[in-house]
Amino acid sequence: MKFPKIIQGGMGAGVSDWRLARAVATAGQLGVVSGTALDLILTRRLQEGDPQGHVRRALAAFPEPGIVGRILDRWFVEDGKDEAVPYAGKPLVGEAPGARLEELLVVANFVEVWLAKEGHPGMVGINYLHKIQTPTLPSLFGAMLAGVNVVLVGAGIPLEIPSILDGLAAGEPVEMALQVTGATREHKLRFDPARMFPDGAPELKRPAFFPIVSSVALATVLVRKAGGGVDGLVIEDPTAGGHNAPPRGALKLDDHGEPVYGTRDAVDPAAIAALGLPFWLAGSNGSPEKLREAPGVGAAGVQVGTVFAFCEESGLREDLKQAAIQAVISGDVTVFRDPVASPTGFPFQVLALPETLSKEEVYQCRERQCDLGYLREAYEREDGTVGWRCPAEDPATFVEAGGTLEQTEGRKCLCNSLMANLGLGQWREGKVEPPLLTCGKDLSGVRRILAPGRTSYTAREVLEFLLGEPVPDLA
Ligand SMILES: Cc1cc2nc3c(=O)[nH]c(=O)nc-3n(C[C@H](O)[C@H](O)[C@H](O)COP(=O)(O)O)c2cc1C
Repeated sequence: MKFPKIIQGGMGAGVSDWRLARAVATAGQLGVVSGTALDLILTRRLQEGDPQGHVRRALAAFPEPGIVGRILDRWFVEDGKDEAVPYAGKPLVGEAPGARLEELLVVANFVEVWLAKEGHPGMVGINYLHKIQTPTLPSLFGAMLAGVNVVLVGAGIPLEIPSILDGLAAGEPVEMALQVTGATREHKLRFDPARMFPDGAPELKRPAFFPIVSSVALATVLVRKAGGGVDGLVIEDPTAGGHNAPPRGALKLDDHGEPVYGTRDAVDPAAIAALGLPFWLAGSNGSPEKLREAPGVGAAGVQVGTVFAFCEESGLREDLKQAAIQAVISGDVTVFRDPVASPTGFPFQVLALPETLSKEEVYQCRERQCDLGYLREAYEREDGTVGWRCPAEDPATFVEAGGTLEQTEGRKCLCNSLMANLGLGQWREGKVEPPLLTCGKDLSGVRRILAPGRTSYTAREVLEFLLGEPVPDLA
């Protein structure tokens, strides 16, 4: 595998969709689709009528037409649903998804990767959050069916992924431990590709695996315990967009209410280099200077998110992209590392923008409920079965499920708001769910790339800005 200098970071949900990843991959760098909530995104794109036919083109390439037929019958709305009509609900993914939901997960991941890889030889990766466990096994299989080149996993300790990739490549059944709060026994997630392919699951190419980590200790454990199964590392610092690893030790907040990171959180690139794998630096590395400096500390290059998040090909709603760009141009822009917003408990970077959940008045107006469920926590009930709860749901429901009121304070429904970011927000009584944007602390790349008078830019322009030279067109 020829290593790229630039990884366009996976940005969930749907911000780095197939269009962005394809634009980067056709320019010779690693384009990464977000693997988060793709089953939901697929059902909503189909209910929007798939106006340009991209989803149906990818579906037609799926090897089991019977499965595709069932999905189209269930979700496709010719000419699209009326605007304020709510999207049909999709079953939440739990411990043992039924056959139809499993199919949807496989197909949705296939579609996103297939479209990103369509018609060129460039490399495409897919990014998953380890915290979101239940969809992972069928999702990986779907992405591999479409020939994904690299799997990147952040937000957790993805020790089991290398052997899962080996198993799926051989068409074998795989399993993964499910983290269950208060567990008195082992809980497992299972997936058998043969369930979808009764004549035998195809043998697939095993993609490379790059965990995303924020400490030398974690990188070392992963490389040692996963044997030869780790092929590269992304080292992410806490200025990166999206979720950040929590600081080590007891949580301390600064005067603004942001978690304080100290010297123990700094990663020594020399220690990472000593592990002997290629690595990329993420978090405030989206500049030509940082890219040039990377080899000096032993890195293969950089992983960049924020500058790509606002480019023309990103999946963000056009009005939100423009609001963010205008805020950057005006210089009046705040990114707050919110210690409690995310139901995961990880710090989450929030871009302050009017009419989004970043504003207290918008947050207070939203009725709390959990109907998408990706960030729910599994817990063991007294009878040993698994229950699910989300601290961003209605607090009374959360407390009934064994949570505490304190855990619910300030939590935001990322599932619904991230869908709204894409123009796929749920409608409730004539109102659409409010969005909530994330990005990294360093917005200087966006500022620099916007030549005076311009209010948009393409992914290719980002790459040319970073590399300082024209990029190829592999399409
Ligand atoms: C809008 C946005 C969404 C992101 N979502 C994810 C995600 O779902 N999973 C992940 O591992 N990283 C996510 N990231 C982090 C990026 O993949 C990348 O590592 C990071 O943006 C690099 O730092 P930078 O933002 O300073 O460029 C996200 C970043 C942004 C800006």
